[in-house]
Amino acid sequence: MNTESPIGIFDSGIGGLTVVKAIQAALPFERLIYFGDTARVPYGPKSQITIRKYAADDTAILMRHQPKMIIVACNTVSALALDVVEKSCGNIPVIGVLKSGASLAVQMTKNNHIGVIGTQATVCSNAYAYAINTLNPDIAVVSQACPLFVPLAEEGFINHPATKLIAEHYLADFRKANIDTLVLGCTHYPILRQVIGETIGSDIRIIDSAEAVALRTSELLSESGMLNRSHTTSVPHLLVSDLPQKFSKLYQLFMGSEQPDVDLVEV
Ligand code: DGL
Repeated sequence: MNTESPIGIFDSGIGGLTVVKAIQAALPFERLIYFGDTARVPYGPKSQITIRKYAADDTAILMRHQPKMIIVACNTVSALALDVVEKSCGNIPVIGVLKSGASLAVQMTKNNHIGVIGTQATVCSNAYAYAINTLNPDIAVVSQACPLFVPLAEEGFINHPATKLIAEHYLADFRKANIDTLVLGCTHYPILRQVIGETIGSDIRIIDSAEAVALRTSELLSESGMLNRSHTTSVPHLLVSDLPQKFSKLYQLFMGSEQPDVDLVEV
């Protein structure tokens, strides 16, 4: 492992690409290796035991490529299984998206009312409310699981009327809750950010943890002298557990790039 080793990033599917995009913008010379567990997405409706098993498998896949750090670009794994990832990867640093999203929301709220949307597993774990209230116990947190957002994002239904209808259903209760900040507590949701933003209203600030994670990654690598010193950019090495062609097309759609090569791995 050295400064040129890749940063490993994983999610259940395409959601973590929102984190890849932010890392590429902040650290363009880093090599990235991304694993999307497309054979087993979605993680959100699954039990904690299953999510913890998946987290160990995902980490093992990335560890074969000797990364210099791992970013858990999945709130569900960050909420329920961050310790599994930390244990499975020995000494290398691990960053989860959840703490970064929570602390950004705490900095941004002015009226101390924060809304959180996430998968069923993330919302039931109460991990966001815990992280937010550890930083500031006076903040009221209202959470809502939005499970259908994940398949809508995986299908590329970015501006589809069905997405709008479902967003109206999920977000209706926030209007009464007097929130001024809404955390996108699932990395798939920024893909639907436009519809979510239009539905919730422009007076509510939307928090996407991807940029906060990119900032934390950059701090961590520079503090430990592990920033890549080369000045060449490269496309991320992409791995999925099923349907590489579909992933490649969605990658092109979300990243606005050429259709990349995607390797299939067994989980
Ligand atoms: N994108 C993931 C998250 O941030 C997982 C979504 C899912 O697979 O249900 O929670």
